Amino acid sequence: MNYQSAEFIISAAKLKDCPADSVCEVAFAGRSNAGKSSAINTLTRQGQLARTSKTPGRTQLINFFQIAEQQYLVDLPGYGYAKVPMKMKNNWQIHLEQYLNVREPLAGLVLVTDIRHVFKEFDQMMIEWARANELPLHILLTKSDKLKRGGINDALSKARRQVEGMDASVQAFSSLKRQGVDVLANKLDSWFVA
Ligand code: GTP
Ligand code: MG
Repeated sequence: MNYQSAEFIISAAKLKDCPADSVCEVAFAGRSNAGKSSAINTLTRQGQLARTSKTPGRTQLINFFQIAEQQYLVDLPGYGYAKVPMKMKNNWQIHLEQYLNVREPLAGLVLVTDIRHVFKEFDQMMIEWARANELPLHILLTKSDKLKRGGINDALSKARRQVEGMDASVQAFSSLKRQGVDVLANKLDSWFVA
């Protein structure tokens, strides 16, 4: 799959705004500020494709990027950002839940987690949700540039233990250093329709 040809299609506020022609999509989920949008930009080699920010909560809509006919990468709103009005927070968490529970073309979930925080409550919840729904899961332990080799290996072991027995894989990733991009691309290739 040629991820570099990715094109922004739509920011969906609701499930009904999501592209109707999608037959296969892969969603990036994770806590606010984990590095989801950065990972999509790194994968697609397009620095500005998904908007990133030092301020958590940057991505508040469900953003669709087309990578081939009827196939999409999806940047989900970050979970757990408190500094927004309560009503707004509720709304987007409801849409996120609806998306995950209803969206037929969803072929796999990339859970993006800061490698220094394996795993927080939200991540556990997503892992359990993937297990219950038998959805393939790929965990990106991102910002791996922040740790030394030993720390990276510890985080990888810890993460792998948590998903034992599941259709799940784990890798270290750094958008800053562009590390782990091929591993991620190969995983996504296995989920998308050739
Ligand atoms: P929301 O849209 O708020 O949910 O956040 P997000 O998960 O999309 O995170 P985003 O990609 O916007 O990145 C958040 C911050 O982390 C930014 O300041 C990025 O520059 C930084 N960041 C992302 N990936 C990496 C990485 O691999 N290494 C380092 N050191 N910083 C990173
Ligand atoms: Mg984002």
